[in-house]
Amino acid sequence: MAKTIEQIEKDALKELEAATDSDAVRALSVKYLGRKGLVTQYLRNISNLPQEMRPEAGKTANQTKNNLDAVFAKASKQFASISYLEDSYIDVSLPGRSIHQGSLHPITQITQQICDIFIRLGFDVAEGPEVETDYYNFEALNIPKNHPARDMQDTFYISEEIVLRTHTSPTQPRIMEKQQPPVRIISPGKVYRCDSDLTHTPMFHQVEGLLVDKQVSFGDLKGVLTTFVHQMFDEETSLRFRPSFFPFTEPSAEVDIRCVICKGDGCRVCSKTGWLEVLGSGMVHPAVFENVGYDTTQYTGYAFGMGVERIAMLKFGIDDIRKFFENDLRFLRQF
Ligand code: DAH
Repeated sequence: MAKTIEQIEKDALKELEAATDSDAVRALSVKYLGRKGLVTQYLRNISNLPQEMRPEAGKTANQTKNNLDAVFAKASKQFASISYLEDSYIDVSLPGRSIHQGSLHPITQITQQICDIFIRLGFDVAEGPEVETDYYNFEALNIPKNHPARDMQDTFYISEEIVLRTHTSPTQPRIMEKQQPPVRIISPGKVYRCDSDLTHTPMFHQVEGLLVDKQVSFGDLKGVLTTFVHQMFDEETSLRFRPSFFPFTEPSAEVDIRCVICKGDGCRVCSKTGWLEVLGSGMVHPAVFENVGYDTTQYTGYAFGMGVERIAMLKFGIDDIRKFFENDLRFLRQF
């Protein structure tokens, strides 16, 4: 016989020392203990030995076989647990996964900014219902039935006498009915009109303002709106008051600001005019005061109303109003 069983075992153990993974151990197991393995062959050849040597040789060879079996099994188990550790390796230096924090909707943010400016100027916040009576939405505001001004707003009627409010102005008579002057309120909220395109959605937001006291003048209105525009945009933003018509104010004015995009040079956003219309305003019409029982010989007041989406679009540079209501998180997360 070429090699002694001791030599075979020694070789096997030496080779095992050089093994670096469980595949190498499996190969050694085949080489020594497999069907054609060196130990297996040795065992088979024992029958060729002289009779008296066979028991001893058989015993040693079997011991070697069992020993190598155990050693290989142990080594492959060790390699398996190392590779498990390698597979489930935790890189403690990796940055943590951030959890996205929710934030206020851009329209809510702008509404709050608008309100904050007027709160600092001494106004209180008052809210009115979104489902409104025809009386407060129109009649009390000097818009009688069949008045052409009703065509200015595409109203959602719930019934003959109930509407979804088309503006926040009905808060004015509601407040004045309950409270004697001085009145100084702003009223934010949702309003509804049957209209939908790039710049109109069936639901949008307005902020209404109303101030009534003795000796309130158009100059006061200009002052307060100028302060508002300067705080909302910046001190450089100039305003112009353009004569207009609203049934509930006389005189009435629409307020434009210098285009915040082109600074007045003329661009797509301002339709090349250099100006952007941002709100409607005026001195409260005496007919409105009469409807709520205010003494028109003692009191005067001003009112204004603005669209929140319009201001948000200008502040954030957004050209499609519908983006605010599609609830696409990729859009909303930018604010
Ligand atoms: N309610 C008007 C609208 O929705 C806006 C408005 C104009 C409100 C003049 C006012 C005002 O208080 O004085 O178009």
